[in-house]
Amino acid sequence: MRNLLLFSIAALVSLPSVLGLGGAHEGLETAMEIQREQVNRMRTMMGTRAEAMNNQRRAPQPPPSTITFSNPKAKEFLVDGTKIPDVNFDAGPSWAGLMPISGAKNETRKLFFWFWPTNNPANTKDLVFWTNGGPGCSSLEGFLQENGPISWSWGQAEPTPNEFSWTNLANVLWVEQPVGTGFTQGNASISNDDELAEQLVGFLEQFLDVFSELKGKNFYVTGESYAGFYVPYIANWIYEHPGLALNLKGIWIADPSLSSDLVQDEIPALRFARANQNVFPFNSSFWDQLQHISDDCGYTDYLDKFVTYPPKGLLPLVGTNGTFTVAPECRIHSPIQRAVGVLNPVFDVYRVTDTFPNLWSVLGFPRSTQEFIYFNRTDVQDAIHAPHMEWQSCSDRNVYIDPATGRGGRDQSAPSMLSNIMPNVIEKSVRTVVVHGLADFILVAEGTRIAIQNMTWNGAQGFQTPIEPESFTVDGFGVFGNTHTERGLTYVEFFYSGHMTPQFVPWAAFATMEFLLGHQDSVST
Ligand SMILES: *[C@@H]1O[C@H](CO)[C@@H](O)[C@H](O)[C@H]1NC(C)=O
Ligand SMILES: *[C@@H]1O[C@H](CO)[C@@H](O)[C@H](O)[C@H]1NC(C)=O
Ligand SMILES: *[C@@H]1O[C@H](CO)[C@@H](O)[C@H](O)[C@H]1NC(C)=O
Ligand SMILES: *[C@@H]1O[C@H](CO)[C@@H](O)[C@H](O)[C@H]1NC(C)=O
Ligand SMILES: *[C@@H]1O[C@H](CO)[C@@H](O)[C@H](O)[C@H]1NC(C)=O
Ligand SMILES: *[C@@H]1O[C@H](CO)[C@@H](O)[C@H](O)[C@H]1NC(C)=O
Repeated sequence: MRNLLLFSIAALVSLPSVLGLGGAHEGLETAMEIQREQVNRMRTMMGTRAEAMNNQRRAPQPPPSTITFSNPKAKEFLVDGTKIPDVNFDAGPSWAGLMPISGAKNETRKLFFWFWPTNNPANTKDLVFWTNGGPGCSSLEGFLQENGPISWSWGQAEPTPNEFSWTNLANVLWVEQPVGTGFTQGNASISNDDELAEQLVGFLEQFLDVFSELKGKNFYVTGESYAGFYVPYIANWIYEHPGLALNLKGIWIADPSLSSDLVQDEIPALRFARANQNVFPFNSSFWDQLQHISDDCGYTDYLDKFVTYPPKGLLPLVGTNGTFTVAPECRIHSPIQRAVGVLNPVFDVYRVTDTFPNLWSVLGFPRSTQEFIYFNRTDVQDAIHAPHMEWQSCSDRNVYIDPATGRGGRDQSAPSMLSNIMPNVIEKSVRTVVVHGLADFILVAEGTRIAIQNMTWNGAQGFQTPIEPESFTVDGFGVFGNTHTERGLTYVEFFYSGHMTPQFVPWAAFATMEFLLGHQDSVST
């Protein structure tokens, strides 16, 4: 990272003389000067800590220890922060391994976890749980590329400390779940997210038996994408089945699945492409074709007509003949994605601003050019007490079963905002935060707006007053999106972010976590 930056500075400095531009191109020189300033600003932001770590590799300066565990069993899970393969700094102590979902002697189902204590002694009262989505995607992806203390993200040559690690804010527990995901053991046996929640709570009880110093902590359940199902269902289960030795306070979900595909993909797709025309540079006959679909299926004026503040009534289904299944002639999201993928061979539906060439990833996505998948290495598996097995960031295995046949099946749960699940969670939580990246096309932010306006919680339907533009600010950046809070629900839209918000705009995701945890009264900083 550092070498790359130095290289680009050198290139910029030498360019004008090479081209012999002299004084005739002051504008160009100014542009290069500004670019240089930006490189320096980026370096300052990414930090002092990263730089110090680089300069004194494996120096004995781990983060301060904020917790010890008295149960001798905890030692079996201890991960030595100086011995994590390829990590050239002392990341401090952490605990990882497999934990069963119940105390039954014959229990074969186990989830894999990686627990990190906070590095800030002021934040030891809080425990954040993180899960990725999928279904079947590993939370170790979130750990390594989004919000963990070690960052080995897309295009990075080597791991670095993450300045925006959520362990700055709380103790954090990354869990691969449900059974069938990542390193988990045993056969999938659930067919809905109540059963998923019950198994996860069973796991947490076993976990707290070993790590009992964490009992009584304030608890926050967080995740992204398909975790728009997982997280509200887990929180709802905990609220409805008191007894877990944690004090659940709220949830945070990013770019969540929480309504129908019609709402989250089809209705807002053309508006999204038009608003981002620079990266959806279609020819005019294709635009016309899309416009026809949109007009005929009732998408074109849907947001202007129905997404009002307050809403005028329940929001209608369009393009589906009154069902949740989109009629084939009303599919518009897939044609757009397919066409843009021809123009931009590395189009990434998770972040539409990506252009050629695309970045490699040590977890194999979006590009798999490296020699290994990090968590598939046996030395990495040994370091974190994981089983020797083929690890996939998103599993081929089934995580749900068909209750009739016992074979692989689909999640039978209703989306959280189309049921009483999310309303109940908002009503019982201190804070509920939903965030969405404005450069995400696998789930579109305007779809989340539709879902919110069609949901009734705390005595009213939807937000009563509009989401004001430019209302979300981040310290050091200024306006960074839009936000609105009403009746316990906070919604935030981030500029520049694709699907994985803590990866793409870690400063913004971090700020919203500070709000969730009650460190500040507003999401804006
Ligand atoms: C464990 O044994 C109990 C009682 O015999 C049985 O009901 C249960 O299904 C078994 N669990 C597993 C995971 O095999
Ligand atoms: C999982 O299912 C397979 C196939 O039904 C069976 O052979 C195996 O014993 C099961 N494994 C466990 C751990 O229950
Ligand atoms: C809005 O909510 C109602 C009641 O749950 C539901 O019948 C309707 O299909 C929803 N509309 C959309 C667009 O999701
Ligand atoms: C939807 O309903 C209309 C009117 O009943 C019918 O003409 C059309 O074929 C239906 N489309 C689908 C995909 O079922
Ligand atoms: C216009 O775009 C569509 C969709 O990508 C494509 O099928 C068609 O060939 C394009 N036409 C021209 C003239 O490029
Ligand atoms: C994972 O590791 C196993 C065993 O070393 C190897 O056979 C397999 O090809 C690896 N898979 C990937 C995707 O790297």
